Amino acid sequence: MSLADDVKKRLDIVQVVSEYVDLDTRARTPKARCPFHAENTPSFVVFPESQLWRCFGACATGGDVITFLSRQHKVDFREALRMAATRAGIRDTSPRREERKSSPLIEANEVAQAYLAGVLNSPRGEAARAYLKSRGIVDAAVRRREFGLCPDGLETLAGHLQSKGIQAGVARAAGLVTQTREGAWRDMFVGRLTIAIRDADGRLVGFGARTLSGAEPKYLNSPRSEVFDKSKLLYGLHWARDRVRLTGTVVVVEGYMDVIAAHEREFENVVASMGTAITRDQVEHVKGLAQKVVLALDADAAGQEATLNSLETVWGAYGGASSELGARRQLDIRVARLAGGKDPDEVISQSPDAWRSIVDDAAPLLDWLIDTHVRRNDVSTPAGKARVTEAIFPLVAVLQNTYEQDRYLTALSSKLGVTLEQLRASAGRIRPQRRRGLAVRGNTEASESALTGQADTAIERFLLTMVLSGDDIREYAAELPEEAFSDPGNRAVFTAWQTSGTIGRLRETAPPDLAERIEHLTGNPLPPMDQRARVGAITDSVRRLLELHLKRLKAQEARALEDPAFIEGSPETRTLIEQRSLETNERLKNLYTRQP
Ligand code: GTP
Ligand code: MN
Repeated sequence: MSLADDVKKRLDIVQVVSEYVDLDTRARTPKARCPFHAENTPSFVVFPESQLWRCFGACATGGDVITFLSRQHKVDFREALRMAATRAGIRDTSPRREERKSSPLIEANEVAQAYLAGVLNSPRGEAARAYLKSRGIVDAAVRRREFGLCPDGLETLAGHLQSKGIQAGVARAAGLVTQTREGAWRDMFVGRLTIAIRDADGRLVGFGARTLSGAEPKYLNSPRSEVFDKSKLLYGLHWARDRVRLTGTVVVVEGYMDVIAAHEREFENVVASMGTAITRDQVEHVKGLAQKVVLALDADAAGQEATLNSLETVWGAYGGASSELGARRQLDIRVARLAGGKDPDEVISQSPDAWRSIVDDAAPLLDWLIDTHVRRNDVSTPAGKARVTEAIFPLVAVLQNTYEQDRYLTALSSKLGVTLEQLRASAGRIRPQRRRGLAVRGNTEASESALTGQADTAIERFLLTMVLSGDDIREYAAELPEEAFSDPGNRAVFTAWQTSGTIGRLRETAPPDLAERIEHLTGNPLPPMDQRARVGAITDSVRRLLELHLKRLKAQEARALEDPAFIEGSPETRTLIEQRSLETNERLKNLYTRQP
């Protein structure tokens, strides 16, 4: 499987797109105003089943998640793939990684940290140090855990950064300072206790800043930037990494202070999700290191809808062995129950043994999900039983092992007060569906391949092998739109060939990963053909690819048009799509009447 395929399997296009675009996700095919051109009528549509997007409006383009990132960030395919891989938590082994290490934002953060730690250690930091002491954090830990204090007097971090030659724009992008309407620079964390946040590689990517005065919010975190994305970071992973790898277990808590308390008492496999329930991206981060993930949820967070959604998504992706990547991907995910509304920090400080047994006694995530659904519904009523069954069945379906499935269904039936047979009968009537990004892919897969075009890549490869066999037939394929390639890797070769003019130049300029692909493609044997046969073969495959491309467009149009949310919500969009649909019909018709 190529890197691009791997990346696409792991990313959800709806999620990625919605980070940039205000997607209306009520529809089965979420839509928005196109981010790539100005428009008043939403004509940008995302197709969750096929993981593709398309603009039905003026720009009339479309593609997959990688194309989207490439257009959004105005970068080429390789850069977009790299961004997507990082997002998907796949370690990027290409040479650019070295460059990634130093970013001006990280340098600014390092300069800031040296200063903030100094302020905390100075007479001005006395009250803050006393506060830390009252929380059981000894002096050595204050340094080890990289606390700091942002002053609230005349002297400012902003001034210090300036004196160290950090550009105001960089300090602002790093979220260390803000600019007032009058143009003055202000510290973001005035008067707060700061906590340095490093990523798994130890790069100082941001800060969490706690109030010391009870001001809201309790924590102010660095804003999202090219180096700081809370949903993908796990606080403390740079400390925990070795221990996690060694023990195969990672414990995920919510707060900075919990992580610090744990590490100070030598529970060194603890990391924090920083306030939200663990996300899929965060799990991706530890997946290669741990086989077991124990979630220590705060009691109040555990009751929240967002937590439930997030954990169901995580279960769908990693709980079973049913994903395409197989058992390699399965993780033993457990939930530790913190009794009496205590947070890990308190438990650990009061009794390390209690913490140990809470972690050891953690229950499988699916048990927790079942309990949570049972608790949220009135299971004495038939409707309540049905709702719980409906919620749990797809989660059980994630498991490939039927004995395991049975164990959970038996547990569920006793909780609902029905027999296993009754439960099975009702579950049989529920169709597993893709809810909330749950990676339960059923038999819809086959019918979707018409949309995703997985089967077309053989033609794509043949066509590429042909175009790479000689510049004399170039003109017959040069006009093909790159969207006709459904495989991103093939598309990358094609666009590089299109822009490079000759095969010789393409070979000279191709970066290593592309060069490898090109080598591979030119290695494919072609039957002996004379010039006429070659022209015939290439025209034929161009036509077939175009046909498949147009059919995909048609399928998308049909899908968008049958979505009730579309029809009711926006007549203008509907008109637009109908128009496009007519054009596509016309193009399909022309494909066969036009002579090559
Ligand atoms: P203490 O209250 O000092 O013990 O901190 P804590 O780290 O235990 O924090 P808490 O359990 O209240 O919250 C867990 C995590 O949620 C924190 O570590 C932060 O990452 C995050 N968090 C808490 N409050 C806020 C807030 O007001 N804003 C934001 N953005 N994040 C918060
Ligand atoms: Mn706490």
